[in-house]
Amino acid sequence: KIIILDFGSQYTQLIARRVREINVYCEIHPFNNCPEFDDSVKGVILSGSPYSVRDEDAPVPDLSEIKGKMPLLGVCYGAQFLSHNYGGEVLPSATREYGRANLEFVDSENVMMKEVSHHSQVWMSHGDTIAKLPENYKIIASTKDVKVAAYKIEGETTFGLQFHPEVYHSTEGTQILKNFVVDVCGCAQDWTPDSFVETTVAELKAKLGNDKVVLGLSGGVDSTVAGVLLHKAIGENLTCIFVDNGLLRKNEFEAVLDSYKHMGLNVIGVDAKKEFLGELDGVSDPETKRKIIGRVFIETFDVEAHKIQDVKWLAQGTIYPDVIESVSVNGPSATIKSHHNVGGLPEKMNLKIVEPLNLLFKDEVRRVGKALGIDDSLLGRHPFPGPGLAIRILGDITAEKVALLQEVDYIFIQGLKDSGLYDQVWQAGAMLLPIQSVGVMGDERTYERVVALRAVTSTDGMTADWVHLPYDFLARISNDIINKVKGVNRVVYDISSKPPATIEWE
Ligand code: XMP
Repeated sequence: KIIILDFGSQYTQLIARRVREINVYCEIHPFNNCPEFDDSVKGVILSGSPYSVRDEDAPVPDLSEIKGKMPLLGVCYGAQFLSHNYGGEVLPSATREYGRANLEFVDSENVMMKEVSHHSQVWMSHGDTIAKLPENYKIIASTKDVKVAAYKIEGETTFGLQFHPEVYHSTEGTQILKNFVVDVCGCAQDWTPDSFVETTVAELKAKLGNDKVVLGLSGGVDSTVAGVLLHKAIGENLTCIFVDNGLLRKNEFEAVLDSYKHMGLNVIGVDAKKEFLGELDGVSDPETKRKIIGRVFIETFDVEAHKIQDVKWLAQGTIYPDVIESVSVNGPSATIKSHHNVGGLPEKMNLKIVEPLNLLFKDEVRRVGKALGIDDSLLGRHPFPGPGLAIRILGDITAEKVALLQEVDYIFIQGLKDSGLYDQVWQAGAMLLPIQSVGVMGDERTYERVVALRAVTSTDGMTADWVHLPYDFLARISNDIINKVKGVNRVVYDISSKPPATIEWE
């Protein structure tokens, strides 16, 4: 495997995803809190950083057991660090070097530049530049403005890249990373969905033995893949619980429950609509809604799980981005992002935790799902928030409002599917606004509800852009909603990106 030492760059996870795409396993660790290497580590990549190597509090890794002893690649900050701290000179660049550039010189003899074309486009993003390399360093690529775009250290398998090979705009960046991890480090490209399934199933069998496991299914990709994987490993010893909180999409509960059963999962469907809506009665504050829904979920799940005899494990669909330790550059310790899909449950139930997907990125979860034979209609589903329609009904929640929003949402989502637009959108949904607006119907004035439609593109939900849905599609959907859903007389389309707006309205 490859170890990526993180200095806090926004692109660190992207480096890991690119390496994984080459079918090589890698892990991200904070530069100041890395476990000891065993024989399986074949090479190290140093990430970029928001810091300058010249900053007084710049992150300084201990490379004594790495540099010169195993393959090492510095990217951006990493490359500057390897230069600055070993006798070279890093200075602020006269102009901030940002954006696309083309290589002008490429040392094709060098293994890192194998199959890289001579005018390859690369992506620069840095305020410093390497003004002078230490003595035994040699340039292996340059752009017009950046002489030291890539270098090697003579007599070592150490390299530096000033540009970011991991970003999409570095068109041959993946080839360069592949040259490093495969040719220099000698990694076998055997990290594939099939091999993941095979090893994980074997590991789960060994770890769980004949123990009973309970898993909460949500209809989402992660919990579904976790369920199928566990089922493959332990069969009937896995019990799944799927709770209807009354805030799901129209027909969702029945449809998803049905497909789970078809996949052979031993799943208990729990109708808790009344409990959830009862507890939410009169509550308008978004955070309070979230807390109530979280609490009622735990209570409901707890009751059901207690009906299973001798259950020892709680399985969760936690994925790798949730468990990566983030770098805290200001101190020696690193903090772990806390994330529990069903926070509070393990403590309450005294169960051990098993998280079969905690090594995978989201796109890998989908690929593993495909390898497990899960239907595309389940794997390609848009993300849907845990509190469901509760945070899409602005203000207080009633059964009538839920029913109305379900109809609106159904027309919108079905419309996207029928028009072949569903897969081009990352997430879509409808919001019920807490206002009424005037309209006319015949000779009468009406005051009825307003709904907002939202459709965004994104990769991870952290940033998002609104989708330019065709006008004639929006016109048709608006018509459909106003004609078919009683109580709605106005439809608006949300054209805000995130940031500064968020995807949900609450
Ligand atoms: P925002 O609104 O923060 O949403 O831009 C980003 C992504 O997170 C989802 N979301 C939630 N998911 N519980 C969840 O499980 C929540 O309370 C919650 N709030 C937002 C949202 O649907 C989007 O995919």
